[in-house]
Amino acid sequence: MSDYLYQKTGQYFGQLAGGAEPCGEAELKQLGATNIKRGYLGFYFCADPVTVYNIVYKTRIFSRILAPLLAFDCHSEKYLYKTAQNIDWSDFLTLTKTFAISANVAKSNIRNSQYAGQLLKDAIVDQFRDKTTKRPDVDTRFPDLLLNLYIHENKARISVDLGGGSLHKRGYRTESVEAPMQETLAATILQLSGWNGERPLYDPFCGSGTLLCEAFMKAGNIPAAYLRRKFGFLRLPDFDASVWNQVKTKANNETVEVPDDLIKGSDIGADAIKAVRANRNELPELGTIKVRRADFHDLEGFSNTTIVTNPPYGIRLGNTEQVTGLLKEFGDFLKQKCTGSSAFVYYGDKTLAKKLGLKPEWKHPLTAGGLDGVLCKYELY
Ligand SMILES: C[S@@+](CC[C@H](N)C(=O)[O-])C[C@H]1O[C@@H](n2cnc3c(N)ncnc32)[C@H](O)[C@@H]1O
Repeated sequence: MSDYLYQKTGQYFGQLAGGAEPCGEAELKQLGATNIKRGYLGFYFCADPVTVYNIVYKTRIFSRILAPLLAFDCHSEKYLYKTAQNIDWSDFLTLTKTFAISANVAKSNIRNSQYAGQLLKDAIVDQFRDKTTKRPDVDTRFPDLLLNLYIHENKARISVDLGGGSLHKRGYRTESVEAPMQETLAATILQLSGWNGERPLYDPFCGSGTLLCEAFMKAGNIPAAYLRRKFGFLRLPDFDASVWNQVKTKANNETVEVPDDLIKGSDIGADAIKAVRANRNELPELGTIKVRRADFHDLEGFSNTTIVTNPPYGIRLGNTEQVTGLLKEFGDFLKQKCTGSSAFVYYGDKTLAKKLGLKPEWKHPLTAGGLDGVLCKYELY
């Protein structure tokens, strides 16, 4: 076994969405990471194996946790191919395991991300072929090993993706309706809202229930990767199954019951309500999420409630005029029927924030899944 970069330095990289940095940093600290340093759309941090397994299993905010194998100056395609062959790929793969590569190249002599990924793939395949005449297969959907190649300003880094794929895919979303938000974005919104399960939470535009399911996981202390079947760290040469089993068992034993009536929501669409129920059923039996079909205009209103929601926005749902009218009416609903509550409204389109007609206490830009949105907090007196 060689000394790979993550083994020599104990350093990893966590990737997250734009605007999620304060939540990501706090989460890393809480999960025991040390030497946390800001990088581009993420953080470098140090951790021992127990802490790393714990972070991959529990993070609600990060979309990827990467273990770097090799970092090098890379000015040409030839050099990328040659240097990638310095890694003994049999440390990570056998002929019966599959792999895939996600590549990202910017401001470098190598310009094409896809081609860079192809070169890394060729280096791996050729190394196996030279030794055994056979090669492991590529599986882009469910690979056993997902590698990350990042080249920025001619500095390359090859890493193992420890989640084995984006961690926003929690595994509970079997059904969705139009414009579902990424699970990591929903978790970030909840974190920024400061909701800790101390008072009821309601989403009046719940769609497929991403905010509700994330609230349920948070209140039940359910590890974010509870439903995940494959992890990239299983392919590391120093993977320790007994340490991983201890981490997983301990985390699974720390789940708690979610009180009835704590997490509720509604949506005008029957499909949405069906989707929330299907998604909720994927999660452990620790309580309920109560949902019903309702137009928000017909709701009685809420006091002492944390309202967290993502109303329709023009690009994907309805036309802008309709959305503008709906937001104005939702603003009136909050003002007139929700005194004593706080509302956290995520607009998938930043320009819609002023349409509510209420002055936000704060605004926090959040970019994820192609959305350039903003979260606003309203205190309803
Ligand atoms: C942006 S989507 C919410 C997506 C959700 N956050 C998710 O992750 O699935 C907005 C939702 O508002 C619902 N909606 C539109 N008009 C409504 C109304 N008048 N009352 C209640 N829900 C409404 C739509 O059916 C849609 O599901």
